[in-house]
Amino acid sequence: MQTPTVDQDNIVTIDGPTGSGKSTVGKLLAGRIGFTYLDTGAMYRVVALETMRRGINPDDSAALSSLCATITIAFKHNDGMRVYSGDCDVTDAIRTPEISMLASRVSAEKCVRSELVRMQRDCGRQGRIVVDGRDAGTVIFPYARFKFYLDAQAEVRSQRRYKELIEKKQKVAYSKVHEELVQRDRDDCSRALAPLKPAAAAIIIDTTAMTIEEVVQELLAIIDARALQCHK
Ligand code: DC
Repeated sequence: MQTPTVDQDNIVTIDGPTGSGKSTVGKLLAGRIGFTYLDTGAMYRVVALETMRRGINPDDSAALSSLCATITIAFKHNDGMRVYSGDCDVTDAIRTPEISMLASRVSAEKCVRSELVRMQRDCGRQGRIVVDGRDAGTVIFPYARFKFYLDAQAEVRSQRRYKELIEKKQKVAYSKVHEELVQRDRDDCSRALAPLKPAAAAIIIDTTAMTIEEVVQELLAIIDARALQCHK
């Protein structure tokens, strides 16, 4: 469990399924309140990418464990946020549908989760952070002052994800995107370890009919109402 040495008062967690808007909202919110943004999903994606690149069997826990012990994941801010595995910029490589599915699969492994949760808690040690993921409020920072859970209808989330992939010039069929999203939802919600669910006391927001800006405004209003001392 989380130790009290972490400044939980200045932590915002945003959990939710694919396409709920949490990453876009998380990034914007962090920028507006002057906090760092941590995309924990990107970390599982890096593990998945390295699993694939190194030809590791995703069912081989020992191999995944040694991969996680040696991997270096970094976020650098130049021209938007870039994700690095060691010295290699993997920002685009981790966003393919294949890596999405593999990330969901390796994220069910205990050794992967415990190593990444350790890294994520390290990132949040100083507070002033917005953390997005599946277990940010349930496991990584259960005592965070602000816990949100974003959701939306599966059809709408699939449309958002499809649009995102098309904008990145990926060749995908909508039906496949929807099918994989439903499967990933099922896997992420039903796994034994840290399944996706709203954290205790999380504020649940249905973003189905909302714009990104409306969601950001709603979160800001809730944070302001609770008088967070943030620097704008
Ligand atoms: O948020 P995302 O789509 O980038 O996440 C990719 C996968 O990683 C997701 O299907 C489940 C896993 N994940 C997780 O298990 N825990 C997190 N905190 C973030 C992501």
